[in-house]
Amino acid sequence: MRGSWMLVVSLAGRLALGGEPSRPSSPDPVAVDRGRTALLAHGYLKAEWGIDAYRNAWKFWGTPAPDPEADPEGYARAFASYYGLHPAPYDNEGLPMGLRWSKKADGTKAGFQVDCMACHGGSIAGKSYVGLANSTVDYELLLFDLFRADGRRPPLVPFTINTARGTVNAGMMSIVLLSVRNPDLSRRTFPLLLGSNLPELDAPAWWVLKHKTTMYQDGRTPAASVRSIMQFLLAEKTRAEFEALEPTFADIRAYIGSLEPPAYPLPIDATVAARGKAVFERSCARCHGTYGPVRSYPNKLVPLDVVGTDPARLLGISDRAVEHYNASWFAEHHPVSLDRNGYQAPPLDGIWATAPYLHNGSVPTLHALLHSTERPARFTRPPSTELEHYDARNVGWKFTPVEASPAASPAPRKTSREAHFVYDTHRYGLGNQGHTFGDKLTEDQRMDLIEYLKTL
Ligand code: HEC
Ligand code: HEC
Repeated sequence: MRGSWMLVVSLAGRLALGGEPSRPSSPDPVAVDRGRTALLAHGYLKAEWGIDAYRNAWKFWGTPAPDPEADPEGYARAFASYYGLHPAPYDNEGLPMGLRWSKKADGTKAGFQVDCMACHGGSIAGKSYVGLANSTVDYELLLFDLFRADGRRPPLVPFTINTARGTVNAGMMSIVLLSVRNPDLSRRTFPLLLGSNLPELDAPAWWVLKHKTTMYQDGRTPAASVRSIMQFLLAEKTRAEFEALEPTFADIRAYIGSLEPPAYPLPIDATVAARGKAVFERSCARCHGTYGPVRSYPNKLVPLDVVGTDPARLLGISDRAVEHYNASWFAEHHPVSLDRNGYQAPPLDGIWATAPYLHNGSVPTLHALLHSTERPARFTRPPSTELEHYDARNVGWKFTPVEASPAASPAPRKTSREAHFVYDTHRYGLGNQGHTFGDKLTEDQRMDLIEYLKTL
């Protein structure tokens, strides 16, 4: 571990600030178009659940619901709201974004599946966006209820999927699926012991990917890797199927690289924001880059002892897991770095829309991110992403701090759904420490800076 931020690892750091050298040339518009259709109009997994599992899920809610036959739109809205999904901003044949009908060869419905947008599709202030990470989904509840509604027992999952809304353990999903494959992707009878323990995470917004040369929170994977974003298909695809789908995912990758962040929807004070820009350039730009017509992004991987945020995502992936991935088809052209460098300082485009903050979503607002003593230890997650739950002053979701229930007095028993509305930073991987770079600002400078961040 390196001792000072001067030694921050900078993969693209040889590129001077100014100009746009680290930004790949804009993707081919024809590939982008094909990718949009490939992502938004097709599913890639078999029907995991029967059609009736969707219609019957409400029976587990304990509350009345609109009739799925008589009022399908009302039912889709209630379903989305219960599990934290969002309306699709594309034709999704009546399903909330993140679910997708699976079709038989003759085009009739065979059942349905989840797709990328269950985690990578969100909404804010009444509008849905592909690529805005889903900050409200209760992925565990969604999966388990769907299995139950399908008349099946939920699968035994050897890790925690999520303890809070909006975070999900995508890393362990991949590692467990990879552990039952050989490097050539043939199936194993006995899983390899890959020895990792990753926590649940807050997915990055897709629109920042085009600025990065490395991806994922630890910046160990080259951002150009198409195969790495196909890991979600490991549940069922064979090597030959992966190879056949690679060009389609290259198009999907091009589409992801074409996405832009939504603009802040409320008024911004330009004078205050201009003062904030100066604060940003003094205190933040060396790690997060500069914005505007001529931009720069240094793609810095910041050592743990400098950034100081929760170590579990960085240290929880074992060398054995990385070596197994690197020996496989996925890494053939783009291996994962063997160095455990730190966390990647992400581009901050559209940051107003992507609370909660940090890789694990442990900080509910920008104000608390920039004033570390103010961060709540336990806080509520919003019931929806409507504007009424948005905090335009502190920038992020309104929350209520939650006291720990004293061990002596038994707390009223909560269902896991209720419990998942509380984010608890005492849990594994969910610590809210570190990134104290805003602490020494005055309150006026902090407020100026926040006004500027709304413009990105
Ligand atoms: C179960 C939730 C989930 C699903 C489904 C999912 N992802 Fe992700 N995705 C995540 C999480 C969480 C991360 C952050 C992982 C990390 O950095 O360790 C991520 C990271 C990514 C990134 C890297 C972004 C960056 O800037 O570093 C890309 C690209 C991506 N996913 C694409 C996809 C695609 C394409 C699909 C569908 C084939 C998909 N994901 C399905 C949760 C999910
Ligand atoms: C020494 C490098 C460094 C400096 C200086 C720095 N940051 Fe960061 N920042 C990081 C890293 C690394 C992360 C990711 C940490 C993590 O998620 O664990 C991060 C994360 C963030 C995030 C959360 C991003 C997200 O998607 O959740 C915001 C917002 C942010 N920084 C804003 C700022 C602002 C504003 C300043 C100036 C006061 C600043 N940073 C200064 C390195 C830095």
